[in-house]
Formats: sequence, structure tokens, C-alpha cells
Amino acid sequence: MAAIIDVQHVHKAFGGLKVINDCSIQVEQGSITGLIGPNGAGKSTLFNIIAGALPLDSGRILLDGEEITNRPANELFHKGLLRTFQIAHEFSHMTALENLMMVPPDQAGESLFDAWFKPSRVNHQEAEVRRRALEVIDFIGLHHVRNELAGNLSGGQKKLLELGRTMMTDARVVLLDEIAAGVNRTLLGDLVTNIERLNREMGYTFLVIEHDMDMIARLCDPVIVLAQGSVMVEGSIEEIQNNPQVIEAYFGAAS
Ligand SMILES: Nc1ncnc2c1ncn2[C@@H]1O[C@H](COP(=O)(O)OP(=O)(O)OP(=O)(O)O)[C@@H](O)[C@H]1O
Ligand SMILES: [Mg+2]
Repeated sequence: MAAIIDVQHVHKAFGGLKVINDCSIQVEQGSITGLIGPNGAGKSTLFNIIAGALPLDSGRILLDGEEITNRPANELFHKGLLRTFQIAHEFSHMTALENLMMVPPDQAGESLFDAWFKPSRVNHQEAEVRRRALEVIDFIGLHHVRNELAGNLSGGQKKLLELGRTMMTDARVVLLDEIAAGVNRTLLGDLVTNIERLNREMGYTFLVIEHDMDMIARLCDPVIVLAQGSVMVEGSIEEIQNNPQVIEAYFGAAS
């Protein structure tokens, strides 16, 4: 298999607390891989390490065979490795469409030189960004609220917008940390459908942290179970759900 993300023997401690413990996972190119485990297992910490938001203590991480260990998040962003972020406070006063238009990292209008000396090119690129933002907003089903302030959208609509922001760039791998939390069933269905379409139609690879087992079952294959900072088991959702160790550590604890 071709691993687009290859995490090799990663360790991370906060003070004396070992949170990630000799953790190795591979995410196959084109997969929607699930990452589950009890509260405090280290899932979000591992995400932050992969996305360049947190340095690791030892180990290596490869993206498509290239070492990216401890590279900064913005560099990884340009390489197509993204994690979704909650819409920041300052963006809540912009419309849904404007939020999408903010994303492109190499928007020509950002360069003063270009703005002064090549205004036609800037205008052209802005029109291009707007066209793409309109396509994205159609794709995620938010056309009807495109001119609403992002802060006024429902929780589920905000999640769709966050997913939409990944489509404004040339994303290859997207990390999703508990995007189903607090989203109503209808919009959750839309989210799942959009993730599947991005995977199928646009070749996105996803690594998905989720406590919602229905969502994991519908979306993810394989599923990796993390416990105390190490991989406990990996397999299909059926294999995971029938694994006695997992039932004890995870489903046992949850019920
Ligand atoms: N910045 C930090 N400083 C100190 N300890 C931290 C820090 N971030 C996380 N931890 C601790 O590391 C452990 C793993 O946390 P993490 O957030 O990665 O777990 P998780 O698997 O995402 O849990 P949840 O399912 O509740 O989101 C926890 O014990 C947490 O308290
Ligand atoms: Mg977490």
C-alpha cells in the first residue's frame, strides 16, 4: 500500500506525562481512516503533531515519502496537509462566501507589489477566487446562506463551511477532529456525504477522529484504535467492534 501519512515510533510527553508512546500509524493514500479511542488516549495530540502544530520528542513523520517531522503548519498547509479549524472569532463577522475567499494562500492581492504594478492580474485572480468560492459553496450545500455572517450559521453549517475551506486549496490529506460533535442529524448526513464525495471525486485522503460510532462505521475503513498513546488494534469496523481488547478498553468504558 502507498502510505500518504507514515507516523513512525512517535513519542511525546507533557512534563512527566507520556501522552504518545511509540506510536506508529500509516494512512493509505485515498482512504478515509478512522482514529478512535477513549478520552485522553492522545488522538488530538497526535493530530497536532502530524499537522505541525506541536513538536514531537522523538520519531518521524513522512508525507508521501517525504520527511515532514516538526515542519511548521503553514509549510504543511502548502504541501496539502490540512486540519480543519473552528471559524475564528474575527471571521464570524464576514459572510460565508467571504470566509471561503479568505483561504487561498497565494492570493495575488496579498502582495503589495502585484497590487501596484499588476492590477489587472489581481482583479483577474480575485474573480477566479470568487468563482471557486461559489463552486465550493454550491458543493457544500450552503448557497442559500452564502451572504449570511458566518457567526450566524448553525453549528452544522459552520462545520460544512470549515470543510469547504479545505476545498479552496489543493488539499491532499485532511485531518478532521470531532467534527460531528453538536451537529444535528440532517447536517451530519450532509457532512458525511460531502466527505465521501471529496474522497471519491477529488481524491482527498481523510484521517478522522470521532466519538460518533455510526459516523465511523459509515465512513471509515480502516479504523485505528489508540489507547494510552499507542495503537491497540487496527482493522475494519467489524473487526474492531468484535475485538475483546477493544470492547474492554473502549466500548466497555463507554457504556
Ligand atoms: N498541552 C498539553 N499540556 C499538558 N497535557 C496535555 C496537553 N494536551 C493534552 N494533554 C494531555 O494529554 C492527554 C491526551 O490528550 P488528547 O487531547 O490528545 O486526548 P484525546 O484522545 O484527543 O481525548 P478526547 O477524546 O477527550 O478528545 C490527556 O491526558 C491530556 O490531558
Ligand atoms: Mg481530542
